[in-house]
Amino acid sequence: MKYNSLILAAGKGTRMHSDKPKVIHELIDIPMINLVLTELSRAGINNNNVVVGYKKDEVIAAISEDFTDIKYVSQEEQLGTGHAVMQAKEILGNSEGTTIITYGDTPLITSDIFVNLIVNHQEEDNQLTVLSARVREPHGYGRMVYEDGTLDRIVEQAAVNEKENEINEINTGVYCIDNKLLFSLIDKIDNNNNQNEYYLTDLVEIFKAENLKVGAYCIDEEEAIMGVNDLIALEKATKIFQKRVNLFHQRAGVKFIDSSNTYIGAYVTIGEGTVIYPNNYITENVSIGKNNVLKPGNVIENTVIGDNNQIGPTSYLRGDNVIHDNVRIGCFVELKNVDFGRESKAAHLTYLGDTFVGKNVNIGCGVITANYDGVNKTSTKIGDNAFVGSNVNLIAPLTVGAGTFIAAGTTVTSDVSDDKFVIGRVRQEIKDKKK
Ligand code: UD1
Ligand code: CA
Repeated sequence: MKYNSLILAAGKGTRMHSDKPKVIHELIDIPMINLVLTELSRAGINNNNVVVGYKKDEVIAAISEDFTDIKYVSQEEQLGTGHAVMQAKEILGNSEGTTIITYGDTPLITSDIFVNLIVNHQEEDNQLTVLSARVREPHGYGRMVYEDGTLDRIVEQAAVNEKENEINEINTGVYCIDNKLLFSLIDKIDNNNNQNEYYLTDLVEIFKAENLKVGAYCIDEEEAIMGVNDLIALEKATKIFQKRVNLFHQRAGVKFIDSSNTYIGAYVTIGEGTVIYPNNYITENVSIGKNNVLKPGNVIENTVIGDNNQIGPTSYLRGDNVIHDNVRIGCFVELKNVDFGRESKAAHLTYLGDTFVGKNVNIGCGVITANYDGVNKTSTKIGDNAFVGSNVNLIAPLTVGAGTFIAAGTTVTSDVSDDKFVIGRVRQEIKDKKK
């Protein structure tokens, strides 16, 4: 069986009060729509189609390159969910199989839920299955109305009567549907309702009128189906996502002192035995090995970290770093594009940029690489076993040989070969004070 998805993502998201289209706002480091695509692909759905509209170029640009072959269609005017699906006819209308329709702003639906929905759809032999949920606060959602035990229709909040208003089984907006039937019947949706919108929910009655089998698959996971409509909901969704990510790492042997104050991105990997103190913010392509200790307050991006290291407190590993094993990177140390060799240390107050640090190197307190001359970035290489004293400036491009010792306060401007002693600072004088 072939499975397709259709993700509705054309809306502006007015209540976000943001120039950025809603579906590309992030949960920690992942744009919502990428999370939707991730879960769909985990569910084995790989013919993915997206309806874009508001700032469509920005939306398309934010979609990860990991998702290849996504087809896009534009909905110029947002005339309702039914209208959005009508636009997809040209990209999806001829496909075989079963289609999952979902939204770009409902980022917490898991692959398990998509899979269970498909299984239910098949077991019940339905042509249309609506994913519904029982919730504590149904206000605002479309309500699932049953007659004689079968789903009869979905009534939008704007049209509910008093009795329907009490129904707490709601339409999540996710559907599993026979693709050919979807596109042969979609044009029957009209906008004769009190909002003059093309309601996708009308499909229930349209399918039933054709004697097709329609059902609902109802879940209790209220958190999973939440839609993000404003920044308050975005924070709430982020918290739920953060909890999921951290639980995953805890189950794999990562120890958090306070997981509710530890922020880890969607694709970070962390080895067993690593301990993470509060207020670490670890995002975008970070991979961390085993048995590390991340003291409080680090920001780590695009960095590979080996095993048995101590990082922080308050280090900033800004990107393109490779940290080997058994190192110490301490307080107020910023690294950018650094290869930091095993057993080396930079324990305090340091900036290293575009730098190769060999093995067992000591970088003293207050060392900086001057890697930018206002026009070009240049690199620094520090050989194995070198000792760079406190408050040393390393003016790139520069090579410091293995085993070389640089005295505190030196500004190093030219290359030094192996095993040298380098000192370059104003000689101290001691004079009597003027009376
Ligand atoms: C819809 C459902 C409602 C359900 C709710 C769940 C309809 C008529 N109602 O209502 O039953 O309980 O979702 O959240 O379907 N979109 C487009 N183009 C459009 C309109 C919407 O792409 O023309 C996208 C939006 O960007 C959004 C999603 O579809 O991601 C849902 O649209 P929205 O207007 O929020 O639907 P609701 O009124 O919440
Ligand atoms: Ca909505």
